[in-house]
Amino acid sequence: MSFMSTATSWRSPLTGPATRRSSPASSASPETPMTALFQARLQLDERLTPAELAGFETVFSELLDAAATAHLRDGGGDWLIEALFTDPPAEDAVAALLAPVFADCGLTPVPVAITPLAQRDWLAENRAAFPPRRIGRFWIYGSHVETPPPPTSWPLLVEAAQAFGSGTHPTTEGCLRAAEAILRRDRRLRWRALDMGCGSAILGLGLLKARPGTMLVAADNDILAVTTAAENARINHLPPLRVKAVLSQGYADPAVRRRAPYDLIFANILAGPLCGMARDQMAALAPHGWLVLSGILNQQAVMVERRYAAAAARITARLTIGDWTTLVLRPARLGRSAGLWHPRGTASAT
Ligand SMILES: C[S@@+](CC[C@H](N)C(=O)[O-])C[C@H]1O[C@@H](n2cnc3c(N)ncnc32)[C@H](O)[C@@H]1O
Repeated sequence: MSFMSTATSWRSPLTGPATRRSSPASSASPETPMTALFQARLQLDERLTPAELAGFETVFSELLDAAATAHLRDGGGDWLIEALFTDPPAEDAVAALLAPVFADCGLTPVPVAITPLAQRDWLAENRAAFPPRRIGRFWIYGSHVETPPPPTSWPLLVEAAQAFGSGTHPTTEGCLRAAEAILRRDRRLRWRALDMGCGSAILGLGLLKARPGTMLVAADNDILAVTTAAENARINHLPPLRVKAVLSQGYADPAVRRRAPYDLIFANILAGPLCGMARDQMAALAPHGWLVLSGILNQQAVMVERRYAAAAARITARLTIGDWTTLVLRPARLGRSAGLWHPRGTASAT
């Protein structure tokens, strides 16, 4: 799942071949890595089809190994392809590679301008873009952060720009706030937990930091997420025997079903897949368990609640942050229970 625009393909210049890395520096200095970037711009006829446009963009992204490419409409409606390079290609080489694409489209070749961009300190920008994030008692930080965690916090090291789940998205925040409220209400120390659609496993590993006796299954249908989850458990010094990372489409993998029932299930996915897995989720939930659902647009919340009510769940709490709703559910046979938390900041809760 991605919440990002599809018009841009981006490999961070931080990982580009010309980037120099150095020890963390708080301000620009001779040691601060300043990555020189060059921009190529190609203006194309507005009537090009998406396939034709992709042919041009591929020359930059694949043949010329651009660090990033994007296509957009310019003010007059024409297509504009922009590509960023750390090592600028020669203009005649670019022209030679584009020539057959122009010919295939029946177009007369137009020149590509390649210009240097103002130098930027990408590491400093990255640090500024991902400051440590405090969500209740959870303290989510990247390895570039030097500030010590607040004394009573649950610190979790998660690198941004890995699998989804750096703590900046409202759906993740909603789950972490729900987790803290649940831990305040339910004092058990050892949890059997499932992080369904784990991404970076920020939710499940955060729970492990808060309750070290937890046994966690972190499941995702994306292998990058599964490997990232396992790696995040390692870099946070969490005992390997307490974390099982599983590649699974919902509950399809037996390793996910075998470890049920779960006292706490997080599922921050999207409303559609959440509805599709309602019965499996309730079947995997322990009789006194908690189910935290997120990735739900506010206007979809009623639909999700109805689907889970039909699977014998009762809504315990709702939290709205911006456009997104997080739901906390429990087995309906437990009956009605008191609200879970108090509204705070921009979030509204019931
Ligand atoms: C919005 S991200 C949530 C990541 C993290 N749990 C968080 O809260 O930040 C959703 C994740 O669910 C995964 N996913 C989507 N559909 C899935 C499915 N049917 N089964 C398992 N994982 C799924 C995606 O690969 C993605 O990593």
